Amino acid sequence: MRRRDLLGALAAAAIPRSVLNAAQTPTEQRADFTLEIGPVAVELAPGTTVKTIGYNGSAPGPLLRVPEGKTISIDVHNNTGEEEVVHWHGLHIPSDVDGSLEEGTPPVPPRGRRRYSFTTAPSGTRWYHSHVMAGRNLKRATYTGQFGFFYIEPKSDPGAYDQEVFLALKEWDPYLSTSEDSMDATYKRFSVNDRSLGHGEPIRVKEGQRVMLRILNASATVHRRVALAGHAFRVTAMDGNALPAPKETEALELGPAERIDAIVEMNRPGVWVFGTTDDHDRENGMGIVIEYAGQSGAARWTAPGDKRWDYVAFGNRDASAEPAERIPLVFDKKFAGHNWVDKWTINGKSYPKTDPIRVKANRRYRLVLDNRSDEAHPIHLHRHTFELTKVDGVATSGVRKDVVVVRPKTQLEVDLVANNPGRTLFHCHQQMHMDYGFMALMEYA
Ligand code: C2O
Ligand code: CU
Repeated sequence: MRRRDLLGALAAAAIPRSVLNAAQTPTEQRADFTLEIGPVAVELAPGTTVKTIGYNGSAPGPLLRVPEGKTISIDVHNNTGEEEVVHWHGLHIPSDVDGSLEEGTPPVPPRGRRRYSFTTAPSGTRWYHSHVMAGRNLKRATYTGQFGFFYIEPKSDPGAYDQEVFLALKEWDPYLSTSEDSMDATYKRFSVNDRSLGHGEPIRVKEGQRVMLRILNASATVHRRVALAGHAFRVTAMDGNALPAPKETEALELGPAERIDAIVEMNRPGVWVFGTTDDHDRENGMGIVIEYAGQSGAARWTAPGDKRWDYVAFGNRDASAEPAERIPLVFDKKFAGHNWVDKWTINGKSYPKTDPIRVKANRRYRLVLDNRSDEAHPIHLHRHTFELTKVDGVATSGVRKDVVVVRPKTQLEVDLVANNPGRTLFHCHQQMHMDYGFMALMEYA
C-alpha cells in the first residue's frame, strides 16, 4: 500500500524517532516502550540551541504508535532530580496509571523508575506530557520539551491519504513577565516539532497528493491560529475523534492541548509555509516549509482570511440526548496583587478547595461551563471523552473532544457519560491557570 510505505519515512522525518530500548531487570519482562526523562539540547536552528528536559534525548519525544485495544507497558526512567509523572492525554485508562498525582497516580521518583501498563483506547491522535505543577518555575511541566504524540491506530483505518505528518506547535525559553498588572509567560523562540521555520527538512509533497496533518498545540499557555499558505484544510477529526461533518477551512485554531487532524490536497505547486498566523511568532520560528517535488526558491506565506473558528460548523444541527443532570461550573479570576500570579476559581473556590464534581456510573451529565473571565480557557477532562452540546447559545451534537476552548465571557455546554469509574481530574490546560487553582476532581459515587 502506497500510504503505508510512506508512513514510516514521514514519521521519521517529522519527529526524531528515538530507539525504544527497555532496561531490563532479570525478573521482569521487557517493557514495550521506554521513556527516559532527562536534559536535552534542542537545536532549533544552527547556533540556536535550547536546553530543556525531554524524553529519550529529544523534544518532542518519540512517536508512540500502537494499535487500538492493545495492552502495553511503558517504563519511565526519571533521570532528573525532581519528581515527575507522565500523563497519557485522551486515553480512557484507570486513575492509577493515568498520570495525575491528583487522581492518585504514583509519581516517578527522582532518579527512579515506574512502569505504566494499560490498554490503548480510544483510537486517534492522543499525546503524552509531564503532569507536574510548575508554579513560577518555568523550567518544569509543560513549559519543557516533555511531550510527544501517541497515535492509536483504529482497527479499520479509512486512510484516504497518501502521506501522514505529525506537527507539534511549541514555544521555548519561557520567562515570567508582567502584562496588564498580572504575571504571564512569554517566550523567546518557536518551532514546529524540533526545528524553527526554515531550518531542518521541509515536508516534501507531490502535486495531487492528499496529506494528512496531525497537529498538536503543545504549548503550556498559548492559543494558536495556523494556516498553510495557498491551501485549505479538510478537518476530519478533533482531539483524535472523527467529526460528523468534515469541512474545509482556511485556518485552524487550537488551544493548548487541542489536536486537529486535517487533510490537505496538494494542488498548488510551489514552496509554501505552514505556520502560525502570528507574524512575530512565525518569523521567530513557528512554521515549517512544504515543498512540492521539482519546486524551489524561498517559501511563501500568505495570511488566511479572518473567518472566525467555530466548533459548531463541524457538528450536527440536531440536539443530543438529554442528560440526567446539569452541573454548573463558573470560572473566574481573583486578582492576587501587582506582580503576583492571578488565582483562578471554579464555583468560587480554588484547588485544592474546589468542590468535587459528583457523578454516578453510566449516567449522562451536562457540564455547563460558564466563563466569567476575560481570558479563553482550554478545559480538559481526564479519562473521558465529552460531546459538545451548546456553544455560545447554539445547540450542536456529534463533536467529541477531550479539551474545549471556552472563549472569554461565554458559556459552553458539554455532555459526558460517566463510564470510567475512578478519580478524574478536570482542569484548565493553561499551565499557569491550573497551577493557580483551576482544577477540580470528578468523583464517582
Ligand atoms: Cu493534557 Cu491534565 O492534561
Ligand atoms: Cu485557563
